[in-house]
Amino acid sequence: MPTFEPLHPRFGARVKDVDLRGDLDDETFAALRQGFAEYSVLVFPDQPLSDEEHIAFSRRLGPLEATKVGSYGAGTPLVILSNVGEDGKVVPDAHKLNLVHKANSLWHSDSSFKPVAALASMLSAKTVPPEGGETEYASMIAAWEDLPESTKAKIENRIAVHHFATSRNNTDKRLMTKAEYNELPPVEHPMVREIPETGKRALYVGSHAGAIIGMPDEEAQPLIAELIEFATRPENVYTHKWSEKDAVLWDNRAVVHRGRPFARDKHARVMIRTTIAGAGSTDIVEAP
Ligand code: OGA
Ligand code: MN
Repeated sequence: MPTFEPLHPRFGARVKDVDLRGDLDDETFAALRQGFAEYSVLVFPDQPLSDEEHIAFSRRLGPLEATKVGSYGAGTPLVILSNVGEDGKVVPDAHKLNLVHKANSLWHSDSSFKPVAALASMLSAKTVPPEGGETEYASMIAAWEDLPESTKAKIENRIAVHHFATSRNNTDKRLMTKAEYNELPPVEHPMVREIPETGKRALYVGSHAGAIIGMPDEEAQPLIAELIEFATRPENVYTHKWSEKDAVLWDNRAVVHRGRPFARDKHARVMIRTTIAGAGSTDIVEAP
């Protein structure tokens, strides 16, 4: 049976004694599903997953999102995060493949720009740089618990507007394509969510959030920035230093994450992600 070793006092666990490639029996899978709800971030060291195995395990958690237009892997269940070009060489720093990593270095929850945001994401490390390129996670359950009552009261019943353009335009104005504008209009999500399995509440903001319904932008934008800063203060963060073949599964309802810089024009970094759709999402794809 899998064992869970906590990675941080408030969330995250390293999972040993499980092979994600095999046909997991129902009891083992149930233990992992429960660990996911309990810890929000599960780190599985040394899982040399093929894409098919990665997809097969992810699908047991729920239907997979189709990778959105404009991303490497569009229309498939895989998001490919790579700075290696077709010629097998690392692309220049200003190349779109590197700008995607730059945009991912803003704190976010995956697919919060979709009408039904993602339940979970699972990243498998294929090639990692010798330094930098970590992924950091912050617990939004801990953030909600720690917020002063006056702030909680201010945002409790509020709805934020999430738009893919918000994070992209804050990274590089060239990143957002016409197709992305057309296919990804702004969406609304409550600023506090309840996680049904545990009944715990979590703050829900990130880099795609750019406005709050019924609040002037001059007030909403600094408030969003302040909330992200509060949620991600260093003691609330787990930094994952990748080894090749690591797989990390996280709960997008309960954590925000960001990628850390590395020598993007010098070292290769190749990661592959599946995204497990939230309940009721129509944006799903059947595994090939
Ligand atoms: C992601 C992501 C950050 C990273 O895969 O969703 O944001 O460190 N990744 O690559
Ligand atoms: Mn992400």
